[in-house]
Amino acid sequence: MVTLAAPKSVRTNAMQLDIHKVGVIGAGQMGNGIAHVCALSGFSVLLNDIALDRVKSSLATINGNMARQVGKNLISEEDRKAALGRITPAEKLDALADCDLVIETAAEKEDVKVRIFAELCPVLKPEAIVGTNTSSISITRLASTTDRPEKFIGIHFMNPVPLMELVELVRGIATNDTTFETTKAFVTKLGKIPAVAEDFPAFIVNRILLPMINEAIYTLYEGVGTVEAIDTAMRLGAHHPMGPLQLADFIGLDTCLAVMQVLHEGLADSKYRPCPLLVKYVEAGWLGRKTQRGFYDYRGEKPVPTR
Ligand SMILES: NC(=O)c1ccc[n+]([C@@H]2O[C@H](COP(=O)([O-])OP(=O)(O)OC[C@H]3O[C@@H](n4cnc5c(N)ncnc54)[C@H](O)[C@@H]3O)[C@@H](O)[C@H]2O)c1
Repeated sequence: MVTLAAPKSVRTNAMQLDIHKVGVIGAGQMGNGIAHVCALSGFSVLLNDIALDRVKSSLATINGNMARQVGKNLISEEDRKAALGRITPAEKLDALADCDLVIETAAEKEDVKVRIFAELCPVLKPEAIVGTNTSSISITRLASTTDRPEKFIGIHFMNPVPLMELVELVRGIATNDTTFETTKAFVTKLGKIPAVAEDFPAFIVNRILLPMINEAIYTLYEGVGTVEAIDTAMRLGAHHPMGPLQLADFIGLDTCLAVMQVLHEGLADSKYRPCPLLVKYVEAGWLGRKTQRGFYDYRGEKPVPTR
């Protein structure tokens, strides 16, 4: 009889560590969502960004988003106040010294992430877990630049974090069972459902989603349809809640391009070639909603297609 080894995700009853204090590095659209859900679930949060004004605007966004949740009776006013009180701005990475878990969610650029880990790891306690919210970059490669590859893991949240149920968990080759089990329990405490992905470029969701978005941009580039026609076609013809170009603007065109580049280089297959029109939008600094312009212009009362 052949006995198959259990998959990594169900391998053990490994020990779990207690997580109380969570550091979040990068206070952009994902960082504010991650800080939001951690604080609402009772964790103390230290929120860092290279630009301190991003932390301030992130706190304002969290406040507004929680107020909306109060308005919908999803949380109480006391929950909102208590959660906001659990988030502390951290100007320097030193402030993250006693965190049990740090989640890096800065720009999708490998050199930026590597530099953050180089500065962060020496100040952390030895048992602290380091997670990254990268959309596509190899967890094994990022882990190998740190002093703790066995305590390093991919924790990939979906956007917008307070609304989306899924978190992909990605083990690097060295990630140990305690790190995996502790992170899985943490994600469950946030009320999220974990899905385990192997460490290959862009994991599961973005491996499937981003080539679809890139293809939508080729469809625009080749003149098969306008922005409006493509988004309407996919909303009404495939029942997608958002058209692919609207979704690209929502994700951020810089992030979309970075993920396609990782897929293209990592899998060495021309089917992942980033569309030149996507490159052009990023070169223009038209990155989608976060810069007010992408495939749509958001500066007026309602979004207007830019092509
Ligand atoms: N946007 C999405 O839909 C989405 C979904 C899942 C995961 N992600 C991933 O999350 C990460 C962040 O994406 P985002 O959409 O929040 O980007 P964003 O551009 O909104 O925010 C990035 C933030 O990182 C900060 N930053 C840059 N360098 C830094 C440094 N050295 N130290 C501290 N902060 C620094 C920037 O000032 C900015 O505030 C990326 O890795 C991205 O791939 C994005």
